[in-house]
Order: sequence, then structure tokens, then C-alpha cells
Amino acid sequence: MSDPQIVYLNGEFTPIEEARVPVLDRGFIFGDGVYEVVPVYGRQPFRWSQHYTRLERSLGRLRIDNPFDADGWRGLVDALIARHPWDDQFIYLQVTRGVARRDHAFPKGVTPTVFGMSSALPRVPAEQLARGVSAVSLPDERWLNCDIKSTSLLGNVLARQSAIDAGAAECVMYRDGFLTEGSSSNIWVVRDARVLAPPRDRLILEGIRYGLLQELCESQGLPFEMRPISRAEVESADELMLSSATKEVLAISRLDGRPVGSGEPGPVFARLHAAYQQAKATSASTAPRASR
Ligand code: PDD
Repeated sequence: MSDPQIVYLNGEFTPIEEARVPVLDRGFIFGDGVYEVVPVYGRQPFRWSQHYTRLERSLGRLRIDNPFDADGWRGLVDALIARHPWDDQFIYLQVTRGVARRDHAFPKGVTPTVFGMSSALPRVPAEQLARGVSAVSLPDERWLNCDIKSTSLLGNVLARQSAIDAGAAECVMYRDGFLTEGSSSNIWVVRDARVLAPPRDRLILEGIRYGLLQELCESQGLPFEMRPISRAEVESADELMLSSATKEVLAISRLDGRPVGSGEPGPVFARLHAAYQQAKATSASTAPRASR
């Protein structure tokens, strides 16, 4: 039998099967909410303060009152970790504007709905680490506020499904001929031993791994450049990588059915992946342990 999942909903911890949200919740009706996905290694949330800052920013962009302060959120995360047996978990946090009669305009005087759950963190399959994953190119058809980590994810959902339908794991999206990101990951380009990343603007979600990989490039002495990246530069890259909370950093070894560079995960990926593992191990061993 699998371990029971206990979720947090509006002040209560309950088994996941028993948690209920009213049908008029604006998350259900309009996708009017924000979320975070926080990896946990050795029972410690990884890069928690950066995740909290992004959550606060997303709430601010949607003008949803932050239901907790930083300590309150950290307490919730620690309580979710403590209720589950896995050393490595991922925490999903969601805040919606709340429950109100259906009307597009913001309702007055509503209380945000707060939801939190933890799941066992799946290991990245060894095969994907060793061989990389495949991706397909797609036009970015999403809205122009992709920096908000919103639960309105239909553009991302459709893009991911197109990738799956094409037999790939992820997509690489372009807007006006320039790289944006994947359906649920940031995309990195290696050319001439330089790591290129698209600008941090409203056209991408700035992943927490975006800042982390930038730091790791610096500590590894890898030149890092943030700038618009054309489709031609992506298609002739030496290496491509993706990053996300659950995939960490992974090589993209095939794009649109053609090999990327040598067709195998490259040396820059190998260095960043090793440095990432080191950062995880340090975080898990140096932070105070959440009590169980
Ligand atoms: N997605 N871009 C998009 C569109 C994303 O959905 C994600 C993460 C990222 C990477 O962000 P981070 O490094 O903070 O995980 C970039 C999460 C994992 C998800 O929706 O499940």
C-alpha cells in the first residue's frame, strides 16, 4: 500500500481523498490563482527563500492578498514535510483568489483558498540522465505574462501534449523567432563553451533553477550570457539543456528528430549536473532538519 498523502486546505490537514473545494472557487472557474513547486532533499526544502519570493511576487502581480507571512509559509512547508515519510519530496502550494459568485472582475472581501500537498519526489530516470531527452520546436502561443506562476496553464498543457504526441518529452518554444522556454521548464543553450539563457522578462517563468544554474556557471568558471537567442542558434547549438524543480537539469539530446551536437549529453551538462548534485547534498546536510 502506498503511503497516505495528507494535504493542507484552508487551515486543516486531511487525507487527500477527503479534501474538497467549492465549485465556485475562482481557481476552478477561472484558473485565477498561483502556485509553487518546491523540491525537498533530505527533508529540507531546497532554495526555499527563492521559492517564497517568487510566490509573493506572483500573488502581488495578481493582486491576491498573501495569506501568510514568510514564517507562516515556511511553517506550512515544514508541517507537510513532517507528515510524510519520504526524505525527498516535492511540495505543491497553491493560492486562489477564493470563492465568489461567478463574475470576471475581482470580488470584494473574499478569503484566498490555500492548498498544499507533498508527494514523493520521483528520481530522474537513469536512462534520461545518461542519454538525454528529446524535444520538439513549437510556436509559443501563451499570453504575455508568463513570468507569473499562474495556475492558468492551458497554453503550457497544450504545448506539452503536442510534444508527447510527437514522441518527445518536452518542447522548445519560440516567440517571434526567439527562444522562450519549455512547457514546464527553462531551456539552456550551449555554444562555443558559453551557456546562453533567454532574458528574464515577462515571456518566461524565471525558474528557481534559472538563478541556481547561473550561480553554478559562475562557480564552475563557465561563461554565462543572458540575451535573446534566435531559433537558428538553438538549432545549431553544441548542447541544449532543460531545468525544472522535478527534472533538475537534463540534457536535450534530440531536437525535432535531429541530434543536438554529438547527440549525447555534453560536457557542460555533465559539469552543471555534478555541481547541482553537490548543491543538493550541501543543502540537505547543512540545514537544520525538519522534525517529523
Ligand atoms: N514548472 N518554466 C515553466 C513554464 C515552468 O512551468 C517551470 C517549472 C519552469 C522552471 O521553474 P523551476 O526551476 O522553478 O521549477 C520554467 C513546475 C516544475 C511545474 O509546473 O510543475
